[in-house]
This record gives sequence, structure tokens and C-alpha cells, in this order.
Amino acid sequence: MAFDWADFGVDLHLDVPAGGRRAGLERALRAAIRSGRLAPGSRLPATRTLALELGVARNTVAAAYDQLVAEGYLTARTGSGTTVAALPSPSPAAPLLAPLERPRFDLRPGSPDVSFFPAAAWLRAARRSLAGAPAATWDYGDPRGHPVLRAALADYLGRVRGVLAHPDRIVVTSGYVQALALLAGLHRSVAMEDPGLAFHRAVVRRAGARVVPLAVDGLGACTSALDSTVDAVVLTPANQFPLGAALAPARRRAVVDWGGLVIEDDYDGEFRYDRQPVGAVQGMAPEQVAYVGTAAKTLGPALRLGWVVLPERLVEPVVEAKRHTDYHTEVIGQLTLATLLTSHEYDRHVRAARSRYRSRRDLLLARLRGMPVRGVAAGLHALLPLPPGVREADVLAEATRRGLALGDLGSHWHAAGDHPQGLIIGYGTPSSSRYPAALDVLARLLTSVA
Ligand SMILES: Cc1ncc(COP(=O)(O)O)c(C=O)c1O
Repeated sequence: MAFDWADFGVDLHLDVPAGGRRAGLERALRAAIRSGRLAPGSRLPATRTLALELGVARNTVAAAYDQLVAEGYLTARTGSGTTVAALPSPSPAAPLLAPLERPRFDLRPGSPDVSFFPAAAWLRAARRSLAGAPAATWDYGDPRGHPVLRAALADYLGRVRGVLAHPDRIVVTSGYVQALALLAGLHRSVAMEDPGLAFHRAVVRRAGARVVPLAVDGLGACTSALDSTVDAVVLTPANQFPLGAALAPARRRAVVDWGGLVIEDDYDGEFRYDRQPVGAVQGMAPEQVAYVGTAAKTLGPALRLGWVVLPERLVEPVVEAKRHTDYHTEVIGQLTLATLLTSHEYDRHVRAARSRYRSRRDLLLARLRGMPVRGVAAGLHALLPLPPGVREADVLAEATRRGLALGDLGSHWHAAGDHPQGLIIGYGTPSSSRYPAALDVLARLLTSVA
């Protein structure tokens, strides 16, 4: 329905990222028009009003409006302001992957607050890394990754995560997911935590391995159930995903004595709030464990930067698999990350991010006081078991009606069944400005369903 936004001091609910304001505003408006959220005929706020609301210069809004008028998304008529144009209905040849529509309030787990990406520090580091780089930098390189990054990672991982990492044992990958695929391709049968991330199970299967469920309880994965019918196990020992337990010390010891390969997914090991950091299992048994880390939570998933520290016997097969997949990971991101690490900008950023997420975690606990929130000692998500008789599907449907997206426990089980019902709350996901409102909606929702 056409709407007159111009009459209101209203929020158009545009997510306009900091930096590249005009381009960001144009993108947000295009997405809102394409998705139908801004209907044809709707009148947009005056440039001055929107500029005030978004905290940008009026010229920025005017330039974005002009651009979208030129592209046919908007029409401008003297005296009647700027309105949304009628777009032709999408042709069958429209791209398969439409730009992602973000919900109004996003508490899904999986992503950090990407607005916290340290763009200025990243740019400085990129400039420094590239300025003095020799010409050979731009040629094919080592499939393990650039030696400068591998040396920086060896130092960082030893210092911060207790990983025994020689640079020759490190392979830089395109995120955790590529390391998982490369390792799964070398194994027949892989045990994976139940519950765990369904996408990662699919990755293992596509790599040709069989997936076997491994139960999880309050002490983490039940590693005593592992036997010789599987040859690798994937664990999230620092913060089980999604239940949030740290793997108990006896189980850590048991799993490295078991004999198969332990794939250690250390996706958010830097974010621990209430206790001393739990060091990596790899530090206890570097020949039994392939330790995998990622920049997805500390910096942003879009970088697609991960790393795996391998037992000696797996270095050559993984390097060959990597070479035959994509030669090696692109070099600019690698060098930039290396500079961030060696200049300790990375540590500073992680420290600031940890403090921000700890405050958010505290706010979550305060808002949901009296509710049995679990898995809050670490990470960027929490588990809220639902009371008997309350179904995830009903709560999620009501959440959607209120513009709130949440994670569910249900999609993480290996098989359907009569599982406990629960919500996964990704408190790291929204931007700081959106977080309090998202919590308000969540708290009201929970009061209404409990
Ligand atoms: C359990 C788990 N492992 C690893 C990752 C990171 O994966 P990647 O580095 O491929 O983005 C995530 C991200 O959401 C995750 O939830």
C-alpha cells in the first residue's frame, strides 16, 4: 500500500552502514523498494527530515534520491516531493540470489555485530602491507598461505589460545568452512555434535564423508561414546554450539586418547567473559588435533579468512587438497590480517569487542531476569529453554509477526524427534543502536508466550 512517510517523523527502518553513507543509503532504499517494503506511490521524507534522522548531511540524502530517480526507482515532481516509482514485475531471468532482507530486529546467531568491523584499522593495515610488497606478492604463492600471515598466526594462537603452532603446520583457508571441507574429504566417517550446525553437517557430507551423531550434555560432547567406527570428530570445545557448554577437562583428555582425528572448531574462543579463557584442546595433543580458527566472529564473516593448524601427517594431504581447490587464499586479506596481528591492532579490537559483547550479555540477562538463560559464559549467543507446552514454532511465528528473527534449537538436531524446545538468541548480531529495541521486543514476546 502506498504510504505517506513525508507526514511522519518516521523511521524508514533503513540499515545504513557507517562509511560510504550515500552508497549505503542508495542500497538500502533500492532493497526496500525491490522487496516491496516501500510500495509504489509512497512518498519519501523530505531530504532534510531523513538527513536529520540518519545523522547524515542533507546533500547526501539529496544525492541518493537523485541517483535513484535516475535509475527509475523514484520519481520527483516539484511540489509533490519524492515518491516510489512502480517497478516492472521481476522477469524470470531475475538473479537467483536476491540481496538478503534483514529483519527489523535480528537476534539470529551466526554473525557478530558487523557494524563493529574496524574499517579504518583494516584500511591502514592494507595500505601498509601493500605499499612495500615485492612484485612476487602478486604471483601464485604457497598453498598454505602467505608465510608472513602464518608466522603472525603461529605467534598469536600460541599466546592467546595455547595452540602449539609452527608456521609450516598452518594452512590459511577461506573461513572455517573450507578447512572443514578439506579435512572431511580425507575421512570416511565423521562424528559431529548433536545438536550442532546443520550447514556444517551438509559440508561434511558433500565432501564425501558419513556423518555420525555425537550426543551433547551439560559437560559438552559425550566423547566417551567415540569408537573405532568413526575416524574423525568435530567438536566446539570452548563453547559448544549451540548449547554453550565448555568441554569438561576429563572429556578433553579422553578425546585426545581416543585415537581418531579431533577437528577443533574454535569459532569464538576469544569471547569468554566470566572465567579464564579455555585453552585449545590442540595444545594438549598437537598430533591428534586439527585446530581451526576463523576471523568470522572477531572481524567479520565476509573476509572469508580462517586457518587450520595440522598434525604433521595431515599437512601434505590438506595442502594438496587446498591447491586443487583454489591454489591458495587471496593475498591482500592475508597480508592485511598479518599486519593487524603483528601491530596488536587485532588484540585491541578483540578486547574492545569482548567488552561490548559482555555488556550486551549482561543486558540480556537483566532483561530476561528470572528466565533460565543458558550458555552465557562465552560467545555471542545464548540458549533459552522453553517451558513445557510451549513450542519453538509458535514462538518463532509470533516473533516474525513482531519483526524479530531468532534462532531455534530445533534445526540443530541431526534427526527430527521429541527434542527439548528452545530459542537461540544471537545477542552479538544487531548493531548497538538496534540492540536495546530488539531486547524490548524479545522480552515482551517471552512474557506473552510464557
Ligand atoms: C559453530 C561455528 N563454527 C564456525 C563458524 C565460522 O565459520 P566460517 O569461518 O566458515 O564463517 C561459525 C559461524 O557462524 C559457527 O557458528
